[in-house]
Amino acid sequence: MLLPLITNTHLKMTTPEHIGKCFARLCDTEMGARLELGRNVGISGTIICAAKSIVIGEGTIIGSGAMILDNDFHSPEGEWGWKTDYVTGARAIQIGRGVFIGSRAIVLKGVTIGDRAVIGAGAVVVKDVPPGAVAAGNPAKIIRQKELIS
Ligand SMILES: CC(C)(COP(=O)(O)OP(=O)(O)OC[C@H]1O[C@@H](n2cnc3c(N)ncnc32)[C@H](O)[C@@H]1OP(=O)(O)O)[C@@H](O)C(=O)NCCC(=O)NCCS
Repeated sequence: MLLPLITNTHLKMTTPEHIGKCFARLCDTEMGARLELGRNVGISGTIICAAKSIVIGEGTIIGSGAMILDNDFHSPEGEWGWKTDYVTGARAIQIGRGVFIGSRAIVLKGVTIGDRAVIGAGAVVVKDVPPGAVAAGNPAKIIRQKELIS
């Protein structure tokens, strides 16, 4: 298991042993960012960067090469420049319980993914995904809706 971690983030892990059947790279980008992983979250080969807040619910599994980024890292400066600016525009990401995120999916700032949703491989998720929905593509669209058993 490889778990590089910068300690500025308020990291809360219920069961840290479930991080990384392969590896997870967790990077905070701003002092005081919140990164919360519920019980039995499974992460392999995933990059998670929190400048504001990323919360992942119990039993969610995340495929290899996925990225979860709650900020854009850079914003334009002057005519040609880019400044490193994690905070401006950072928006919290909330991922529900029992979600499946496919390989190489990217979840971008401000997204909420509901319980038991499925995110297809390679999806770029820029809008909320309701509970039980299957979303795929770039930008991710709902391709199916499951009935949820409560
Ligand atoms: C999203 C997923 C679960 C859907 O599987 P499914 O329910 O069997 O769906 P189907 O294969 O019947 O495809 C349904 C439609 O969605 C499209 N689709 C399926 N997965 C897609 C994806 N990842 N990206 C874009 N479109 C996708 C199909 O082309 C099909 O479109 P059509 O109706 O126009 O022909 C699956 O395709 C997927 O992406 N699995 C993730 C695999 C993975 O990453 N595992 C993790 C390993 S660590």
